[in-house]
Amino acid sequence: MTEEQTAVAPPAFDPNLFLDPETGRNPQDFYKFARSVGAVVPGPFGGQTIMGRREVEFALQHPEIFSSAMEAVNLGQSVPLIPLQVDPPEHSKYRKLLDPIFAPKRMNLIEPDISQLVNELIDGFIDDGSCEFTTALAEPLPSSVFLRLLGLPVSELAMFLEMKNGILRPAGNDLEEIQAQQRVNAGEVERFFSETLADRRKKPQDDLLSMFATAEVGGDKLTDDEILGICFLFLLAGLDTVTDALECFFAYLAQHPGQRRLIVEDTATIPSAVEELLRWETPVTGVPRVVQQDFELGGCPFQKGEHVGISIGSANTDEQELPDAYDVDLTRNTKHLAFGAGVHRCLGSHLARLELRTTLREWHKRIPDYEIAPGTELNFMFGLRQVDTLPLLWPT
Ligand code: HEM
Repeated sequence: MTEEQTAVAPPAFDPNLFLDPETGRNPQDFYKFARSVGAVVPGPFGGQTIMGRREVEFALQHPEIFSSAMEAVNLGQSVPLIPLQVDPPEHSKYRKLLDPIFAPKRMNLIEPDISQLVNELIDGFIDDGSCEFTTALAEPLPSSVFLRLLGLPVSELAMFLEMKNGILRPAGNDLEEIQAQQRVNAGEVERFFSETLADRRKKPQDDLLSMFATAEVGGDKLTDDEILGICFLFLLAGLDTVTDALECFFAYLAQHPGQRRLIVEDTATIPSAVEELLRWETPVTGVPRVVQQDFELGGCPFQKGEHVGISIGSANTDEQELPDAYDVDLTRNTKHLAFGAGVHRCLGSHLARLELRTTLREWHKRIPDYEIAPGTELNFMFGLRQVDTLPLLWPT
């Protein structure tokens, strides 16, 4: 037998594994297997997905090669999502306008409001000894915080959630049906923001929309389409991601009472716990890109125009970068990519951290012991890790 014949063949990789419900429940095992096949593997919808930490970081840091422009993904909208679907150098003019709005000092000012809101929501169900976590807290908390910030009516939350879910989680049996659903919902979002903006131009209020109506970037007033692109992205990011993170965190903590005790016994652990859970759970599992020039990465060729997935979840568990990546240590100083990297790094990370820390603190003060209702099978959605239902129980 020749040397070539004895070489071990790499394990076969089925891209449908990305969409397997078991992957949703245990993504970390899937990431490990995928990386054992290669730093780049076939993606779930054709194209390739980048799995290695080094390669993921490279792709995120090089938008001139891996662009997040509108061709990377279209959710049915007619305008680019700003600033996500704008490449440098234009991108930076939008971040100059938007960064101060979400700066840590400004966000810290709303901490008491967030804390009060968490407690009001808990008041509503604590005596029942149970709740469906998504509808009781994970959805209403971040959505209310965000709608208030934007100046939109919290009483219309159900409508906003329906529009957002119709875009991020459209029903449909095939791609055509799914895209048709997205277009309908995107049309509604665009109509809603156009009308509200026209209203704010007539009657300015003390809110973000009114601020955008008169804001300038690079010496020019923002156009209606630009404002629409910003608000559209805000609606998707502001109403979904923190919900996903809260669900992942509480599903994890409910199943790991030892880890939970660290938070209950010492609230000073919460900031590092939030970072470690963001790393381990990685609620935004991956992001899409489109290749701008023929290129080689991780030993794999990429062709101009190719659609590519970047697995942030896999990068966050890559043992080549973090040897004990499969130990969850809520006290360690974690470096993760859960908010992305490079120019498109998350604009809302300070707000997200504030909401996550405040919720962990207030909840565990009042409900230190809880479990997932026996017999529940958790189903996490692909991409943005939302759980379909998370029933929690605690002693009263
Ligand atoms: C735990 C919660 C959150 C997570 C895990 C998260 C994650 C991410 C990730 C991974 C990216 C990079 C996307 C890419 O490179 O393609 C991103 C970008 C972004 N996020 Fe977040 N996000 C969270 C909360 C928020 C919130 C609350 C907002 C509200 C404004 C927000 C607004 C944005 C925006 C506007 C961008 C685009 C930034 C740019 O292109 O310059 N995010 N986020």
